[in-house]
Amino acid sequence: MIELSKDAICCVFDAHARPDERAEDFERFSALGHFINTARPGKVVLGGDWWDFPSLSIYDGSRAVGGAGSNKRHSGKTILNDLRAGEDALKATLEAMRAENRRHIRARHRDRCYEPEIHFLGGNHEDRLNKIPTHIPELDGMLDSGIVDEFLHGQGIQTHRFLDNLQLSGINFRHYFESGVRGRAVPITQALNKLGRSAVWGHTHTFGHDTRVAADGQRMHAVCAGCFKPPRRCSEQEWSGIVVLNNPRDGDLDLLQISTNSLLRNYRLDTQKAA
Ligand SMILES: [Fe+2]
Ligand SMILES: [Fe+2]
Repeated sequence: MIELSKDAICCVFDAHARPDERAEDFERFSALGHFINTARPGKVVLGGDWWDFPSLSIYDGSRAVGGAGSNKRHSGKTILNDLRAGEDALKATLEAMRAENRRHIRARHRDRCYEPEIHFLGGNHEDRLNKIPTHIPELDGMLDSGIVDEFLHGQGIQTHRFLDNLQLSGINFRHYFESGVRGRAVPITQALNKLGRSAVWGHTHTFGHDTRVAADGQRMHAVCAGCFKPPRRCSEQEWSGIVVLNNPRDGDLDLLQISTNSLLRNYRLDTQKAA
């Protein structure tokens, strides 16, 4: 593994954590945590749809978000279980780093602690929570994406609302960049023309990279960063993995692409113990 620069940015989009995750699928979170704790990128961007919220699927008829009425696929699903699934996934991801930090503190080596700057970009699946008060007005002010933000803030994570822009080292991050009258995610082939600046997004669950030099001589990159769903749950077009933006500077970067299968092979918990 190439040594990462201190300002490297690890990007994880669309994990879609669900309460019915199989144990072997859930292992991707601890493997990710071990990778982050080993490679030590200075920043981590969790790009939204970390939570799947199957209980709030309009396709399955969830009335809480304006569906026609729950159907068989919706039965037994609850917002509480969905919330916990994403929370448990995040805690599993952060555990390797926290356990090592606790060891450093016990050994009076606080200076060795690793605490990356972590950003969370709201995705459309977290935004499902914001639709609830429209359909159940009695819950106005009580249940919206603030409940996710509150949890994230408690974990020391900075939050950004769905489709708000985050800029780091001259690179722009969003769950996706809107394009066309319907506001769909910009296709990778059109991104640099339409945006005219470096950008990283997810949402489509596909992977794409385009790069060119702008008129002012500055290199731009567009990265559609795939997803972090279990590979088993991905369609043929989807790509499961993470991307790391190494040496990010004024929109330029060295792109590293690591598949979830590769993370699991190299950083699964029992692999770590055996090492
Ligand atoms: Fe997604
Ligand atoms: Fe999405």
